[in-house]
Amino acid sequence: MDIPADQLNRPLRDLRISVTDRCNFRCPYCMPKEVFGADHAFLKDPQLMTLGELTRIVRAFRALGVEKVRLTGGEPLLRADVPELVSALKKELGVPDIALTTNGWLLEKMAPALRAAGLDRVNVSVDSLDEETAGRMNGLGFKVERVLRAIDAASAAGLPVKINCVVQRGVNDGELLALCAYFRSRGHTLRFIEFMDVGTTNHWTPERVVPAREIVVRIAAKWPLEPVGPAYRGEVAARYRYSDGRGEIGLISSVTEPFCKDCHRARLSADGKFFTCLFASQGRDVLGRLRAGASDKELAQFLSAIWSGRTDRYSDERAELLARHESRPKVEMSYIGG
Ligand code: GTP
Ligand code: 5AD
Ligand code: SF4
Ligand code: SF4
Repeated sequence: MDIPADQLNRPLRDLRISVTDRCNFRCPYCMPKEVFGADHAFLKDPQLMTLGELTRIVRAFRALGVEKVRLTGGEPLLRADVPELVSALKKELGVPDIALTTNGWLLEKMAPALRAAGLDRVNVSVDSLDEETAGRMNGLGFKVERVLRAIDAASAAGLPVKINCVVQRGVNDGELLALCAYFRSRGHTLRFIEFMDVGTTNHWTPERVVPAREIVVRIAAKWPLEPVGPAYRGEVAARYRYSDGRGEIGLISSVTEPFCKDCHRARLSADGKFFTCLFASQGRDVLGRLRAGASDKELAQFLSAIWSGRTDRYSDERAELLARHESRPKVEMSYIGG
């Protein structure tokens, strides 16, 4: 099969899969508890992709050139079958790079099984080292200490760990240096993420975004930094190394310095819909086709036609839309895959 590029000549390389739209945290920037409370309509189990269905869908994506699969959510580790899924992706499909994005709450116990199953690496969210701020940023007062222990456990199990920190002005931006100090001392790359206008419920305003440039300047005043080229084409994070040789940081500047030009990412929502952008309003139903009896070849053709027609570049267009006070319908990140 011909491997398609999209309308902006971007090949498909990464697939980000939301394996569940549920989460045990309620980070206000993602799933605020006023909205995602007890009566929130999460997907029902039969709507989620089973292990076998996930494996078949990823096989179809592999035929289009996907080399990296990231399991995310919601919180992916709420599904107990994630190690089994990793194992199928590695052993049956030979996916070269399998990664997981998690809040870390359930990671300590699961790390050895995930590693043994063939997981290549893990990205863990840590927004604050201060228990009170961390508790506020996960919405439910969960202790960051347990997440830090899980990070050590994942490392000990042989998993390379990167840390994701969503920065919000007036919330955790006073802690940039403390976070750097902690993760530098442990050899983990820390990535600061600009607060994004994903979904419709997180009360995003441009004033709460701390621009990546400002973050770099503030850190470099204490520990000089040098830019490093991307680890791979289209890497989301811009990388900087500490000039003293003690590791590196990354900046994910989706708002102030968008990176759509090299976006090779597709997303699969928890109910098996194919989204070609984090900010897309609609997905195409892959799982429905599979359940209606489509063959592997038909699935791959369906995906290929969608990718070939892709024109998405939301983050590039955001400034214009904001200036015109326009917005587009959006779906939640937990559903579409963060
Ligand atoms: P690596 O493979 O380790 O480089 O991971 P990654 O940065 O692709 O994955 P991760 O799940 O850790 O992503 C970190 C954050 O980057 C996500 O939570 C999003 O906030 C943001 N991000 C990832 N992909 C995209 C994208 O395609 N568009 C935008 N706007 N943001 C993205
Ligand atoms: N802006 C930026 N990053 C976000 N994440 C979730 N919501 C947002 C947002 N509004 C991040 C999480 C995690 C990843 C899955 O997505 O912190 O690192
Ligand atoms: Fe859960 Fe991650 Fe969203 Fe926080 S950012 S609510 S941990 S999915
Ligand atoms: Fe890719 Fe859409 Fe993010 Fe741009 S906004 S980098 S096109 S997912």
